[in-house]
Amino acid sequence: MAIKYVPEPFRIKVVEPLKMMTRAEREQAIARASYNMFRLKGEECYIDLLTDSGTNAMSQEQWAGIMRGDEAYAGASSYFKFVEAAQDIFGYGYIQPVHQGRAAEKVLFPTFLSEGKFAISNMFFDTTRAHVILAGARPIDCCCEEGKNPALRAKFKGNMDVERLEEIIKEKGAENIGMVVMTITNNSAGGQPVSLQNMRDVAAICKKYGIHLNIDAARYAENAYFVKRDEQECQDWPIKRIVREMFALADTFTMSAKKDTIVNMGGCIGVKDPESPLILKIKANCISFEGFYTYGGLNGRDLEALAIGLYEGIDEDYLRYRIGQMEYLASRLDDAGIIYQAPVGGHGPFIDAAKIYPHIPYNEFPGQVLAIELYKEAGIRTCDIGSYMLGNDPDTGEQLHAENEFTRFAIPRRVYTQSHIDIMADALIAVRDRAKEIKRGYKITWEPPILRHFQASLAPIE
Ligand code: F0G
Repeated sequence: MAIKYVPEPFRIKVVEPLKMMTRAEREQAIARASYNMFRLKGEECYIDLLTDSGTNAMSQEQWAGIMRGDEAYAGASSYFKFVEAAQDIFGYGYIQPVHQGRAAEKVLFPTFLSEGKFAISNMFFDTTRAHVILAGARPIDCCCEEGKNPALRAKFKGNMDVERLEEIIKEKGAENIGMVVMTITNNSAGGQPVSLQNMRDVAAICKKYGIHLNIDAARYAENAYFVKRDEQECQDWPIKRIVREMFALADTFTMSAKKDTIVNMGGCIGVKDPESPLILKIKANCISFEGFYTYGGLNGRDLEALAIGLYEGIDEDYLRYRIGQMEYLASRLDDAGIIYQAPVGGHGPFIDAAKIYPHIPYNEFPGQVLAIELYKEAGIRTCDIGSYMLGNDPDTGEQLHAENEFTRFAIPRRVYTQSHIDIMADALIAVRDRAKEIKRGYKITWEPPILRHFQASLAPIE
């Protein structure tokens, strides 16, 4: 039996009409898009779960803030409002706005990474991995074993494997590890949380070997909610205290604010030590790539919306509804016997597509097959988080074999209702029930050298 849906702590004031298409029209659309979900038009998607990034619905307070945005080139009041809010929540000495998460990576990573260096993470997300490689270094994933087994229900499947982390450091030499990155929640492992205890263990190892520790903070608020729910010590703590404790363990953070800060565009870098010489390097890189350091590629109005969104994102009633929506959808999948990275993570279920299409090998991209079938079935746009997304080895050019072949349902914040969630579950069940009819997967007919999944062309294998 599906669990009860947690009601929305808001009501709808503005609506965005959706286009209704037939299956035949969708089949034409996806063929025209070369079977790449990123090449569909937004209006061709009835329910758009391509990403939860920048697709969130802002509140009336945020929209009112847009009007108050101060567009001064330097020293805008919206900048100070944003910095004050971020310092209050994260407890860091320096906050640098940038236009989105990958801009934070581009500005910060080259200050630690270069040729011959390694960066180790509980799991890099695609753009984060790309920025490690672009800086000349090599990324190493070090997720705990539980995180690799979707069917295994365990707490904190996003954790770093701390024993393995120390082994890698010894193997490569501490002087060659440019940085350790803790991704909270662990997006590629299915939005799985990292425990406060794991963060403490990782911080202790970094301290022991003198290695810089950075948090990739895109979904830090959802992570904090899981910590409160599942970590005994934190059950009575306010979300803000959990955030503070987590961040106090790292040296810097990079953040895509397009997720838990509930805006459409924005990001930042945080530096804990207000005296750190790193700050001057960040400002210099920011001026070169993003714009003057008091706006960092953002409009004043964006900074204003961010300052408000930071607080809305850690509101406990909101987080209870947000995670409740995921748990409701997951319980419908449980009823149908569909395997996903369980328990469900913070931004949506990651469906184990290899279980639905066991006869389709990794290099025919089962995660992509499921995404395409869901689109044809109900106009739901999801994406592959598997071998198709992982791409080729940067040194050998060989197709990499992902740990899991997931299809991700990334659910935007405050956007879809319970009936949309039911359509997601119904479509997935229908596609699963006729999975045997799909005999083969897809081949890539063209791909760019890096981050290929955004642009590649695919064709069904006959
Ligand atoms: N880090 C994580 C963990 C992310 O999930 C993302 C983006 C980024 C960094 C980069 O941030 O997009 O603002 O430049 N993830 C999106 C996603 C795109 O769909 O999961 P960005």
